[in-house]
Amino acid sequence: MSVLSYSRIRGLFAASLLAGTLVLRAADPAKEPAGAPTELIKPAASTGTGLLLEPPLDLSRFTREDFLKVANTVGPERIRRPWTSPVTTLPPHPRTGVKGLTEDEVRSYMSQVRGMFNRGEAVPLSDVGLISTQEDVIRRPMFNHIAAFSNAVARVYLLVQKTERDKSWGYFSIVQDLTLDPPLDYFAEVREKEVKFEGANCYKCHSSGPLSIHPTRADLVADAPLAAAIAKHIAEQPRSRFHFPATDPAPDYGKALAPKFCSRCHSDDGDRGPLFKVHAHPIRILVDFGYMPPNRALKPEEITELKAWLDRKP
Ligand code: HEC
Ligand code: HEC
Repeated sequence: MSVLSYSRIRGLFAASLLAGTLVLRAADPAKEPAGAPTELIKPAASTGTGLLLEPPLDLSRFTREDFLKVANTVGPERIRRPWTSPVTTLPPHPRTGVKGLTEDEVRSYMSQVRGMFNRGEAVPLSDVGLISTQEDVIRRPMFNHIAAFSNAVARVYLLVQKTERDKSWGYFSIVQDLTLDPPLDYFAEVREKEVKFEGANCYKCHSSGPLSIHPTRADLVADAPLAAAIAKHIAEQPRSRFHFPATDPAPDYGKALAPKFCSRCHSDDGDRGPLFKVHAHPIRILVDFGYMPPNRALKPEEITELKAWLDRKP
């Protein structure tokens, strides 16, 4: 990892917690402007843009202890494990000179990481996710354990998820096939005996492959330096394409989001894939909570333009 060293982050993180803030200073002044704060986990707060369809959910009754209690039901030995690298290395791919993983190879990576998680061989972060908890999706805490893996041919992600009331944890995975240019992202639910590829269901939030980590509150994450490191790994991913399985082909998503203040990054030739109406939910949340666009707030007239586009009937 180039910009910040993790041991340094951990030390700084402890210090900044003592100071009552989650902001830390960049460790390498050559890479960051002098004194620029690098936020580890930005506290999630609505900026009141009026883009949200439901009022921000009040989770103040829900404590960190409540969070850890539910998170631990997955098996305390599987989570909050010691780590040096945020991304667990997978064994080399068995086939050499690969140009395009087969669907069976993709499924096998997905089952492999499920097994590694269950045996306590993964390095998962745990959080209550902002995007899945806010708005009308469930409006109750959504518990996530997320782990990243890779080898020379693939970046593999595992999500182990449930709400407080669900009895069992669901397993979901993303495999980025790096042997293709651009890489191809497969999505699936990973059951014990079956890996079920999915398309539209996942695309409505995952418009550009894996999503950055955004906990719903700064204390509803464990451990924060790991979450920041995995978020960085995800943010630095190559621009990829979404794999729609033959059984679940891409519908017609209509016209892409046009305003330049989004499309200069989100477009067919941008850093991230284009955004469509179907992405309204993550758009409303990431903009209202001040994560998008990165590094600045939208001007009132830009918010009006975005809102008009989101509200327009097709
Ligand atoms: C309602 C929006 C939504 C939908 C629909 C959705 N996801 Fe996600 N997913 C997220 C968010 C948000 C995160 C990051 C959560 C966090 O911050 O903890 C995430 C994380 C993940 C991760 C961990 C890697 C990453 O992207 O951070 C995997 C794997 C994953 N999702 C798979 C799937 C699969 C497979 C489907 C379809 C079956 C799916 N997701 C559908 C919102 C969604
Ligand atoms: C300077 C480039 C840039 C601009 C401008 C920008 N984004 Fe993003 N956006 C990103 C990057 C990089 C990510 C992935 C990393 C992250 O989430 O932090 C992202 C992630 C997203 C996501 C999650 C899906 C994904 O691609 O991972 C949504 C939704 C989104 N942006 C919406 C918007 C909207 C709406 C606007 C305009 C109001 C906007 N963005 C403007 C760079 C940009």
